[in-house]
Amino acid sequence: MNIHPIYDKMLSRSEREKALHQKSMVLWFTGLSGSGKSTIAVALERELYSRGYVAQVLDGDNIRHGINSNLGFSIEDRRENIRRIAEIAKLFMQSGIVTICSFISPTLEIRQMAREIIGEQDFFEIFVDTPLEICEQRDVKGLYQKARAGQITGFTGIDSPYEAPVNPDLQIKTANQELAHSVRAALEFTLEKIKHY
Ligand code: ADX
Repeated sequence: MNIHPIYDKMLSRSEREKALHQKSMVLWFTGLSGSGKSTIAVALERELYSRGYVAQVLDGDNIRHGINSNLGFSIEDRRENIRRIAEIAKLFMQSGIVTICSFISPTLEIRQMAREIIGEQDFFEIFVDTPLEICEQRDVKGLYQKARAGQITGFTGIDSPYEAPVNPDLQIKTANQELAHSVRAALEFTLEKIKHY
């Protein structure tokens, strides 16, 4: 017996993808704080829009201040942070949108959970590979200094782990590269996938 008859009537993901002329997916940016994840993610979102595609960035600013405002930075809370984000990203993806997630997501296990929630074939891991020394030099938000001074504990890369991806779908090394070059790499990667709707 079909106990959820409404599902038959709902617009499908593929109908939505056809209407938007794009394959939807989740692009999962991972990397240290200050690695440049969100800068690249936001620039990618704009590049996609300027080509007529529909994309949405989810990052700490719009998630940790809202739905995840009750979570901190223990490994448990980070796991719950990422679990909720992955579920939200999946909803966006199912509505046909290219969903760009930008979160430290520090451990292999946490990212594996995100991959399983979203689904292997729709999850693309993009490693923004910026060495700790450089993130710390940039210290855009002044948080590394605070972590070194002991004013913040459990800071990723200082006294909380970051496990680099083993086999990312794309690796962007920002250290000796212009932002535009990093964005182009992410854009080319995405444009190649977006056509297969
Ligand atoms: S995650 O580990 O749960 O994936 P998330 O990407 O949401 O982290 O948030 C990271 C941002 O929170 C950092 O860029 C930084 O601005 C801020 N932050 C505050 N405290 C910490 C901390 N202890 N470790 C890492 N980032 C922190």
